[in-house]
Amino acid sequence: MKQSFNPLNQDLLVNIGGELLPRSEAKVSVFDSLVQGGDGCWEGLRLYQGRIFKLTEHLERLRHSALAMGFKTIPPAAQIRQEIRRTLEANQMTDGVHIRLTLSRGEKITSGMDPRLNQAGPLLIVLAEHKTPVYSKTGLTLMTSSLRRFPPDCLDPKIHHNNLLQSILAKMEANAAGADDAILLDMSGFVAETNATNLFLVANGQVNTPRTVACPEGVTRATVLELCRAAKIPCHERDISLAEFHRADEVFCTGTMGEIAAVTTIDGRTICQGEVGPLTRQVAELYAQCTSQQGETILS
Ligand SMILES: Cc1ncc(COP(=O)(O)O)c(C=O)c1O
Repeated sequence: MKQSFNPLNQDLLVNIGGELLPRSEAKVSVFDSLVQGGDGCWEGLRLYQGRIFKLTEHLERLRHSALAMGFKTIPPAAQIRQEIRRTLEANQMTDGVHIRLTLSRGEKITSGMDPRLNQAGPLLIVLAEHKTPVYSKTGLTLMTSSLRRFPPDCLDPKIHHNNLLQSILAKMEANAAGADDAILLDMSGFVAETNATNLFLVANGQVNTPRTVACPEGVTRATVLELCRAAKIPCHERDISLAEFHRADEVFCTGTMGEIAAVTTIDGRTICQGEVGPLTRQVAELYAQCTSQQGETILS
């Protein structure tokens, strides 16, 4: 599932600090905190028929990340909504769109990591692209990375920050192994998540997912747990070992970018005879119903 360039995105207008700029001119300063240290937080959003799914939850997570990172000012949600709306309208986008919302700590007065060098306030970037869900619908292949996800006392995954190097290095291992994505374990050896998504397994008709000690509080993950509870499908958040994933009846991953995607191979073990399993299909259908009916109308 290597993504490719979509010609529809050739003439994008990107919102940098409230200015709508053609993609070739959409740039940040070399003194920006994102360049200086990946010092920002971000959210991935998806637009369905003029509505953004779980927008409030995403804006809340962005605010929580910025608060935990000690940003001096955080743009109010109403302002962020307005900038998203302006960006979508300028690009005449209504559906099949992924939005990468980034809040940088902002420009520094000189090169360096010290947040006291930030005297200009945060910078909001709204990058909206035409992008359908990125994962194969017939099943993904995963391999286990040599890297571990941080526990909260190293770098708390409850901060959704722009330091993506751990994920990028794990993704490189997956690429080298011919897999779609990589599984990262936590420091105790339990499964945390993949380089880009939360993970679930199905065993004996029950849905299980790791606790959020070494993986983000995924918005899609929370939606899936809600949907399971509403549909009376037993579901549990607990420590899960790799062997449990290897022997699972079904495995799927979740995320805004790729929605619900079945996993059919892990470390050379075939899951669910290489097919999308019945519970995965049910959860994916319930999720699709939600995204087609719910979400916040952002376009007037
Ligand atoms: C590392 C990681 N895991 C999981 C997810 C999925 O989260 P969500 O469902 O909120 O998109 C993301 C999305 O940004 C992520 O970066």
